[in-house]
Amino acid sequence: MSITAIKGMNDILPGDVETWQFLEQTARDVFGCYGFAEIRTPVPEKTELFCRSIGETTDIVEKEMYTFHDKSENSLTLRPEGTAPVMRSFIQNRLYNLDPVSKLFYMGPMFRYERPQKGRYRQFHQLGVEVLGVEDAKIDAQVLAMLHQYFVRIGIEAVALQINSLGCPECRPAYRESLITYLETRLDSLCPECQRRYVTNPLRVLDCKVSGCQDATVDAPAVIDHLCPACDDHFGQVKKYLQSLDVPFSVNARMVRGLDYYVRTTFELVTDQLGSQNAVAAGGRYDGLVESLGGPALPGIGFAIGLERLVLMKGDEKVAPVSPQLFIAAIGNEASDRAFVLMSQLQTAGIRAEMDYLGKSLKAQMRRANKLNAAFTLILGEDELKSGQAQLKNMADSSQSTVDLNALTEELKKKLG
Ligand code: HAM
Repeated sequence: MSITAIKGMNDILPGDVETWQFLEQTARDVFGCYGFAEIRTPVPEKTELFCRSIGETTDIVEKEMYTFHDKSENSLTLRPEGTAPVMRSFIQNRLYNLDPVSKLFYMGPMFRYERPQKGRYRQFHQLGVEVLGVEDAKIDAQVLAMLHQYFVRIGIEAVALQINSLGCPECRPAYRESLITYLETRLDSLCPECQRRYVTNPLRVLDCKVSGCQDATVDAPAVIDHLCPACDDHFGQVKKYLQSLDVPFSVNARMVRGLDYYVRTTFELVTDQLGSQNAVAAGGRYDGLVESLGGPALPGIGFAIGLERLVLMKGDEKVAPVSPQLFIAAIGNEASDRAFVLMSQLQTAGIRAEMDYLGKSLKAQMRRANKLNAAFTLILGEDELKSGQAQLKNMADSSQSTVDLNALTEELKKKLG
């Protein structure tokens, strides 16, 4: 039996990859305008990094990590997300010494051992950003405005921004207690998973997809009603700045996130086009994270976009593949050898050139030139080799012009503009 890819991990093939390149390039353009620089970190990290940042009682750490031992018995994990590795690198490389505010972005594969389904994979790709060093709510609004702008630029409109505040270590413990007390009175209605975790991670119960748990928590206390004055004020400022930047949003007081490092502002960009995998992007503030990982006490905020979900939303709207600017069709061995050298000269000069390598008939070569959507074609036969001239055909309007083979590069450059 032939070898296939690992379940939940997909190839990205020519024809689709152009959409990926468009999404990635637009991210570079948009994030660049807002002052973000790219950072690249290794795919595996020490397992401890994720346990300490994402949280021991989260689904990701409890069940979803690709963890293994290397030959020296170190426990390593394929990164399930990008924030923790970026924080590790930020601290290790003392990036905080370069500028009091660091704006970083990253893109690349992440790994979670989840049950694969539409929009949920075991290897998936994130486009993420992180800002370190700013507590002011202006940055929350700016990050969200940038996320909004990115979706405008990639032409995906069917998304809605939901925001919430999860409070801070000052106000969350009291809220947590009141939620546990509330859940205790409804334990019988909760699913086995929530019955297990309502004490260790009660906020996750609000996020449970099981209808019994949803019904049982309709009137559960909301964290935004239990914020301390500082968090309440911060959340008010975030909303005010979002309005001043005309970023549409709604408050979803039930939104909790699957990672433990969040405080204050959290958000999701949701769609109704992807079934149950409805979050195309998500993020929030993580003010204590850098310090808890051994760095300075700097606040942080960021988000990650799921690229596969964007590609799904783009659907059949494909980005055209790059096509040759010239296809040289050759008749006979001698002409093929000359075409080979001409093609190389063109490619060296930065022109996308292609030819036949399989000894096909002229008709078949022209069919391929058509299929590849070549802008121009040039036919080389015995006569053309003798005269040193050939007909250059513009495939869009079928017009022809005679070109000197020794001046082909210059002529073609002129025609291509
Ligand atoms: P997250 O909510 O776990 O947050 O993931 C962010 C996004 O990644 C999701 O909204 C979704 O679009 C995509 N995603 C997650 N899991 C999968 C999967 N199995 N298959 C396909 N797509 C998936 C984080 O990862 C945080 N690090 C975001 C962040 C950055 N917070 C602050 N800075």
